Amino acid sequence: MARIREYVCAECGARYNKWSGRCDACGAWNSIAEEAPLAAGPGRGSASGGRGKPVQLLDLATEEAAPPRTCSGMDELDRVLGGGLVPASAILVGGDPGIGKSTLLLQAAAEFAGAGLSVVYVSGEEASAQVRMRAQRLGLGRAPVRLAAETGLTDILATLDRERPDLAIIDSIQTMWSDRVEAAPGSVSQVRAAAHELVSFAKRRGTAVVLVGHVTKEGQIAGPRVVEHMVDTVLYFEGERGHQFRILRAVKNRFGPADEIGVFEMTGAGLTQVPNPSALFLSDREVRSPGAVVFAGVEGTRPLLVEFQALVAPSPTPQARRTVVGWDGGRLAMILAVLEARCAIPFAGLDVYLNVAGGLRVSEPAADLAVAAALLSAREDVALPADMVVFGEISLSGALRPVGQTENRLKEAQKLGFSQAALPERSSGSVPAGVTLRRVSDLTEFVGEMFGAG
Ligand code: TYD
Ligand code: MG
Repeated sequence: MARIREYVCAECGARYNKWSGRCDACGAWNSIAEEAPLAAGPGRGSASGGRGKPVQLLDLATEEAAPPRTCSGMDELDRVLGGGLVPASAILVGGDPGIGKSTLLLQAAAEFAGAGLSVVYVSGEEASAQVRMRAQRLGLGRAPVRLAAETGLTDILATLDRERPDLAIIDSIQTMWSDRVEAAPGSVSQVRAAAHELVSFAKRRGTAVVLVGHVTKEGQIAGPRVVEHMVDTVLYFEGERGHQFRILRAVKNRFGPADEIGVFEMTGAGLTQVPNPSALFLSDREVRSPGAVVFAGVEGTRPLLVEFQALVAPSPTPQARRTVVGWDGGRLAMILAVLEARCAIPFAGLDVYLNVAGGLRVSEPAADLAVAAALLSAREDVALPADMVVFGEISLSGALRPVGQTENRLKEAQKLGFSQAALPERSSGSVPAGVTLRRVSDLTEFVGEMFGAG
């Protein structure tokens, strides 16, 4: 029988039946390679002789209660997992090389072991001695975590089968290779095959499996996105170079809310938790400076105050610059257009720089009003009151839309000593004592209230 050839793009995972130099799906060059077929695994020749298995109704009465979770005791991690580790779950932890994934997972391994789980940490990147040295440095030398330095998947699965741990950490999926696939470690086929076998193992044996994945410069887990589809939970560990804080973000979670974040700080002795991130992000704030506005944001269920900073200056070139760090460039263009069209405040001929202090990434539309306020404050060279937070979504008409979790945002503001909030008129929720609301219905009214008639 002729073998069917399949070709896969290493960037996006698109499949083709013939080779080409450029991927039609994502536009990458030289990313397409032939994929070796999966050899028939033990699962193929079914023991039941193809008779099939009885199926069950999704009957609530017989369904088990919520899965028993184990908490590591690191609140920042447990929350992101959706309230602890679920048995038999498959979790992918992605992040740039050097961001601290191995450090985080070694610490987590020790904590879970301390909470009574049997834990195996498989390192494909570092020798056992190196991992042990790191553990010693982190003060985890005595933690009952079992170590294996191994990259061959067959050996790893045999080890896991023998040890039957509650939790297995595979660092990293890119270093693993399966002898069922004729391709180099790190290639799409290998990453996919290794992930597939490890996830199947998790489901079959009830072991929770954590896969560490490096991220490419485009921000994807290196290799195909199919790994993200295979696992139950996808966490990203992110942070800016030069900043010591790190954010663990759930981007997919079958066992809890996505968008939840955990905040850590990288210190000389490993990662420490940051229970009050707003204080960290506002720590080196200047008291009153034009262009700086504090946004009362929410990440998942957690309120987070961050400072938006804008700089607006006459452009020396005909093509004015728009530079954004930590927010969406398209959304900035929209707010500039709304300010121009609805409030008659032009930004033509002006360079605009927008930055989220501390290196955080904000994706909430609720930040619209804070961005507009920062832009106006910079343009007019007028500082907003130092004790004010701002939030609200701006529609194309210039109207302000209320956003979720108003009360949560206001409480956090009050906790950190802010006493005024500018927000959309129709926002609901109770107001904490000591916080004065400045409710505005549209952007024109906001401009008038904050900066005079414009
Ligand atoms: P690592 O966990 O090896 O990153 P990854 O697994 O994501 O590639 O972390 C590497 C960086 O973390 C390295 O640059 C040193 C720094 N680090 C500390 O600052 N303090 C520590 O206690 C440890 C263990 C690492
Ligand atoms: Mg590592």
